[in-house]
Amino acid sequence: MVIEQKHLESVNLKRSSSPEHYEQIASQALSNSINHLNTAYRHKLCGAEGAVEFRDEGVYTYDNHGKRYLDCLGGYGIFNVGHRHPKVINAVKAQLDQVCLHSQDLLNPWAAHLAKQLSEITPGNLQYSFFCNSGTEAVEGAIKLARLATGKTEIISTKNAYHGVSMGALSATGRDCFRKPFEPLLNGFVHVPFGDADAIEKAINENTAAVILEPIQGEGGINVPPPGFLRKVRKITKERGVLLILDEVQTGMGRTGRMFACEHEGVVPDILCLAKALGGGVMPIGAFISTPEIWHVLEPNPSIHNSTFGGNPLACSAATACIDVLMEENLPARSAVMGNYFISSLKDLMAKYPKYLSDVRGRGLLIGLEFKTIELRTGVQHELFHRGVLVAGTMNANRTVRIEPPLIITRPQIDLMIRTLDGILSDLQDGVLELEDVEA
Ligand SMILES: Cc1ncc(COP(=O)(O)O)c(C=O)c1O
Repeated sequence: MVIEQKHLESVNLKRSSSPEHYEQIASQALSNSINHLNTAYRHKLCGAEGAVEFRDEGVYTYDNHGKRYLDCLGGYGIFNVGHRHPKVINAVKAQLDQVCLHSQDLLNPWAAHLAKQLSEITPGNLQYSFFCNSGTEAVEGAIKLARLATGKTEIISTKNAYHGVSMGALSATGRDCFRKPFEPLLNGFVHVPFGDADAIEKAINENTAAVILEPIQGEGGINVPPPGFLRKVRKITKERGVLLILDEVQTGMGRTGRMFACEHEGVVPDILCLAKALGGGVMPIGAFISTPEIWHVLEPNPSIHNSTFGGNPLACSAATACIDVLMEENLPARSAVMGNYFISSLKDLMAKYPKYLSDVRGRGLLIGLEFKTIELRTGVQHELFHRGVLVAGTMNANRTVRIEPPLIITRPQIDLMIRTLDGILSDLQDGVLELEDVEA
């Protein structure tokens, strides 16, 4: 039988001295993206400009023309230790030469080591980990574990929360534009205003299994709850026999100035979800972590929840190296210091341009910069791109730009970002810059 083979276009992304080579990469990437990923790529600024991701290192990403971008987006929170940290890269390279994916039969020492490491760095008696491949899966597993452990089905979440897009995680996600097209979702999810502990208490009933929260809402627009909120929710959930799931997929691994954001309030959740930066910006990995009392329910059927690729040695070795780097380089504390500096510099800009900027909020290096209008937000974001700085909007708050650079960012690099933004806003004010009308 002759199998008809489609024309195979080879992609040679190696460096070359010919400018045509780079143009070819850009045009191939754009047409393949439009034809095989999503037709919406035709609106994408970087594609239209021919800017294609080409290499990355530290706090910078470079495109196919060699243009350097200061990464103040951090891949939506995956590059906490920077792009291609040598220690993480070397760990994965060494792992490639030993075992890549596990047999699924013998003991997996890399997953076991990582689970022990997580039990040491997470607060309280969180001791057991399940490894998966994304934040969505971590949340999905946490919801299942909460239901299994309590025998109850209802979950209280918050408006504008973002917990992922599988049917369970989406049920917890709190924005209609993501949810509506896929309804009916799971039964028993309610969404209360974020930061309102009384609303959570009122929503609890005899069927409530858990409350799920981000300690700081990321995609909701970098919303920092009032001080004491998390502690209050912990107290209420304990008193009412309801589990507390904290989704630290974005806030974890040093992002907010502590290893985990719940540590700011001395709160220990019953289940903790991690992903994104856990893989050291090199490998995808997610995890949900819980206490021995809760994990106990998995004993009768340990494979009741499972994942073939979850806990694979390549991902685990990257995560182990990532944790080592976070500790050795003291990055959570660094995030607190640099975050304060960044926030106060942005506040100075807000005072200078009250016409354009309406709020600066955040903790550590998880920062939201709110514009007066969506058009301003998108226009300034794209102008920053042109001028070599990456930022992005938050998915559930369209006037807000997220700033979440690698935690290794330096003061001069922060100054560069502030100068660039200042330049844009001052050009706007002087009428010498017209912002592009781009889609939100
Ligand atoms: C708090 C939070 N939870 C879950 C997710 C979903 O993670 P992933 O995109 O890895 O599935 C995200 C992604 O942005 C997130 O910010």
